[in-house]
Amino acid sequence: MSPSAGARVFAGIADRYDRLNRILSLGRDQAWRARVVARLPAGRLLDLGAGTGAANPLFGDREVVALDPSPEMLALDDAPHRVVGMGEALPFADASFDAVFSAYVFRNLESVSATAAEIARVLRPGGRAGIVDLGRPRHRVLAAMHRGATAVVLPLAGATIGARDEYAYLHRSLDRHPPPEELFADTALEVVETWRMGPFGFVWGAILTPRPMARR
Ligand SMILES: C[S@@+](CC[C@H](N)C(=O)[O-])C[C@H]1O[C@@H](n2cnc3c(N)ncnc32)[C@H](O)[C@@H]1O
Repeated sequence: MSPSAGARVFAGIADRYDRLNRILSLGRDQAWRARVVARLPAGRLLDLGAGTGAANPLFGDREVVALDPSPEMLALDDAPHRVVGMGEALPFADASFDAVFSAYVFRNLESVSATAAEIARVLRPGGRAGIVDLGRPRHRVLAAMHRGATAVVLPLAGATIGARDEYAYLHRSLDRHPPPEELFADTALEVVETWRMGPFGFVWGAILTPRPMARR
């Protein structure tokens, strides 16, 4: 599988990604990740779309495997096991992880349903997936205001690190997917819990488990 447009965007900004992420989230991006990690079981964890490994300090003594299609992002990740690959075709055995974590990745995937099927396949019985991503506020008026703001703020912020186009892409990607309850409706994963975070609730967290019929 060749890297998606989403993966190519990050390859070009790997060295500046964490800094701008922290500024744009007003320092909250790690707290949003932490609320998901706190709900995941111990044991072997797959960080899907791990990027630079920003979540590594949150994983405690879990055995972490970091997967990302961008070698440039993974080169900055200090996880002990790093694998170049895509969520849509995970190079791991069935039932080989206790938990799958994925932060700010789902907007960039080629296929949510293929990735959900792969997550369901690699989770052991009783395993959980935890996902955090950005979208739009639920309320129509707040969503319109948020859309207007990100259209201006994100390309400008991107320009400060020489990545205007990449951050214009981030603005467009925020409209790409519906909220988690709809996003996973017809997939191999079912939502156990979901919640909103950040200004106007434009950040969502979700805990998922394989649907019984997703297991062979
Ligand atoms: C916004 S970054 C998030 C990185 C990291 N999870 C974090 O919390 O900072 C999105 C990451 O998703 C990766 N990505 C893009 N397409 C992907 C795919 N199809 N499967 C897995 N990861 C993908 C990109 O290479 C990039 O590293």
